Amino acid sequence: MRIAPVLLAGAFALASCGKSEPPPADSAASEPTPAPAIAPTAAMGEQIFKRCVACHTIDKGGPNGIGPNLHGIVGAAVASKPDFSYSSAMQAKGGVWDAAALDIYLEAPMKSVPGTRMAFAGLIDAADRKALILYLEAQSK
Ligand code: HEC
Repeated sequence: MRIAPVLLAGAFALASCGKSEPPPADSAASEPTPAPAIAPTAAMGEQIFKRCVACHTIDKGGPNGIGPNLHGIVGAAVASKPDFSYSSAMQAKGGVWDAAALDIYLEAPMKSVPGTRMAFAGLIDAADRKALILYLEAQSK
């Protein structure tokens, strides 16, 4: 009978603790744009891809522009679109565009593939690159 009051006090402490918690995180769902701290998503990547559309299409069978069509790029061999004329630098790069290779390339295209014709400074924000690659991946299925 000595233990019971202690247990009760403990239960009260837990209950009041629960009540003093801030409101659940889903209150952010009503905001028009996601906060920057939110984990990268393909939907965020779609917004970032707007920086690429001057030169790239991504829809299946879409035309090449200044750069090649990027449908199915994740997992594709580098410089493998048969109807696009790549720089010799890109042709010499070799390998596959997996997420890691894209991350390195998109951070600083002209540094990671010196001589590339892709005149794009790069995305310095790692979360931006992650979101963009998720989007590219979603367009590769
Ligand atoms: C100013 C035009 C331009 C912009 C903007 C641009 N690119 Fe490119 N991109 C190119 C060109 C040109 C090439 C071909 C490069 C070469 O042959 O050296 C290329 C090549 C690529 C490749 C390699 C394709 C392959 O078949 O191997 C990827 C991946 C790529 N771009 C992704 C992107 C992404 C993602 C963005 C947006 C963040 C972007 N590019 C922005 C022009 C551009």
